[in-house]
Amino acid sequence: MSKEEAILQIDDKKYKLPLVRGVENECGIDIRNLRAQTGCVTFDSGFANTGACESTITYIDGEKGILRYRGIPIEELAKHSRFIEVAYLLIWGELPTATQLAHFSELLTDNATLHENLKSHFEGFPWSAHPMAMLSAMINALGCYHPDLGEPECHEELMAVAARIISKVRTIAAFSYKMSRGEPFIYPSPTRRYVSNLLHMMFSVPHQEYDAIPEVSRALDMVFMLHADHEQNCSTSTVRMVASAGANLFSSVSAGVCALWGHLHGGANMEVIRMLERIHKGGTSIKACVEMAKDKKGDFRLMGFGHRVYKNYDPRARLLKQACDNLFAKIDYEDPLLDIARELEDAALNDPYFAERNLYPNVDFYSGIILRSIRIPTNMFTVLFAIGRLPGWIAHWREVNEDQSTRIARPRQIYTGYNERAYVPIEKRGLE
Ligand code: ACO
Repeated sequence: MSKEEAILQIDDKKYKLPLVRGVENECGIDIRNLRAQTGCVTFDSGFANTGACESTITYIDGEKGILRYRGIPIEELAKHSRFIEVAYLLIWGELPTATQLAHFSELLTDNATLHENLKSHFEGFPWSAHPMAMLSAMINALGCYHPDLGEPECHEELMAVAARIISKVRTIAAFSYKMSRGEPFIYPSPTRRYVSNLLHMMFSVPHQEYDAIPEVSRALDMVFMLHADHEQNCSTSTVRMVASAGANLFSSVSAGVCALWGHLHGGANMEVIRMLERIHKGGTSIKACVEMAKDKKGDFRLMGFGHRVYKNYDPRARLLKQACDNLFAKIDYEDPLLDIARELEDAALNDPYFAERNLYPNVDFYSGIILRSIRIPTNMFTVLFAIGRLPGWIAHWREVNEDQSTRIARPRQIYTGYNERAYVPIEKRGLE
């Protein structure tokens, strides 16, 4: 079979560059020797055309709107699976057997409580602290209590640390919510499953235990499952970059939380609700939002719309829209924001600006409406996204660490600053 190559010409010299192909026939030009061969680097701000690694975890076809975890379509997982099983699948590559799943669930239950001393860290935050700031800081603090687990060396050690982080992050999230309300912390219950335990820790109070109905737990489980991985997105690339420097799992994940917080990434789920609320309260209208989003003089964007990879309807948004309808029908709940979201989606999809740019609702467009219906406050939305994304981050951290060809992530740049110039002593500055 002939070797596939690309030919690059710079001035009158030609260079052969090998092609790499993924299992779904995606094609990349291997430029690992480009600088050595040609003296040039590539220029790709935002890495929109850069394959930074080979990965076996998640496949996305953005043109067709396909998302698969370890080869399994997201629609099938949404129908048959649950978050903890998906976490196992992402981290270890295969769906667990009943025994493996039971063992993993047991580890999650065993690791749900926080070291008592960790509770005092919460007291160091002001009540107004954003829960994403607390989450990131607390994950690093958690690592200080388990220094032996930051760099697992075998399957069992990784299993222990993964269960510990996945379980304790849920407790940290619930405690940060309680902190913000000035309510006492509610300890995890050993008899509840992952999602209902989170809701218990958030919404139970000493005089009244909160028991989520199965439909609510199922809807939140679905939200987590749909957020569990999304290949090389900003936060996952951050985790991978930090991991490539040899940082431990806790620090790498803590960095991922900070990246996720940004409003163009996971923070968009809060902004969507703020936008819909403004429309609802009459502060703006659907038409005005669409017009503002199109206006290149301003910096407003239709939040929850558009995606770097999807140039088609985000399959997660479709599933979440459906999940909203199902949940609301079952719990007999109505939210005017859902109607506004539907109308806004219609208005945008029928507007040539959005059609020409292939801008569709993304995962953040409907997730907040589900979270609101289960009383999750808006500033906790991105924290819940982080809980969902954790298995993906752990799987990527593992991949970076097990890949013998991993090198520290260190991009190049095109320098556009001053050429060499002389140092000016302070007394002579501002005189020219
Ligand atoms: N509203 C209005 N215009 C948009 C939007 C939007 N939401 N998204 C993209 N565009 C426009 C851009 O202005 C650009 O127009 P131009 O070609 O006339 O300059 C064109 O569509 C292409 O957009 P880019 O900015 O090049 O797309 P990029 O891949 O860099 O950005 C992003 C992707 C950040 C998601 C963007 O679509 C956006 O800002 N969306 C709103 C925020 C959001 O919902 N983020 C969550 C994404 S999903 C996630 O991270 C979990």
